[in-house]
Amino acid sequence: MSKTIRMIINGKKEVFHIGHDDGYGIIPDEETLCETLRERLNLTGTKLACGQGACGCCTVLMNDVAVPSCQILTAACDGADVVTIEGLHDPKTGELDPLQQAFIDKYAFQCGYCTPGIIMALKGLFINNPHPSREEIGEALSGNMCRCISQYHVFNAAELYMKQNA
Ligand code: FES
Ligand code: FES
Repeated sequence: MSKTIRMIINGKKEVFHIGHDDGYGIIPDEETLCETLRERLNLTGTKLACGQGACGCCTVLMNDVAVPSCQILTAACDGADVVTIEGLHDPKTGELDPLQQAFIDKYAFQCGYCTPGIIMALKGLFINNPHPSREEIGEALSGNMCRCISQYHVFNAAELYMKQNA
């Protein structure tokens, strides 16, 4: 009997069945959450880079905690509430999340490949600690790599966000 996985992804109910058929909504038990998001739901804002839990590019929120989606099997996600970078904007107005806007205002990216993961890591931090110190921000981002070295601007964006949303 196949196992059913029910998740909320960006506010929408999704149902998958674990198995090895090729049918719609049927996924193998070795498929990662990152693959499901990108390849089945077309949520390609979640980036896949190292695939080994080392770079943070694939970070999403799961039950309000930032996690590397390349290290989580979709088969283990039953009941999870997942938010990706695509789920941050206001669904009614279409406006960006204030943290996304702060990244734009402070030019906190260059190529942008790492940016969704960094924003989701910070989002997880702010949900659980609305007024983090600079050290706590650094700690929250310690699993996120940026090859363009945009870190200083990322700190500026995080601090602007805190100032505007305190
Ligand atoms: S792609 Fe998941 S941590 Fe690098
Ligand atoms: S902005 Fe290019 S990898 Fe971070």
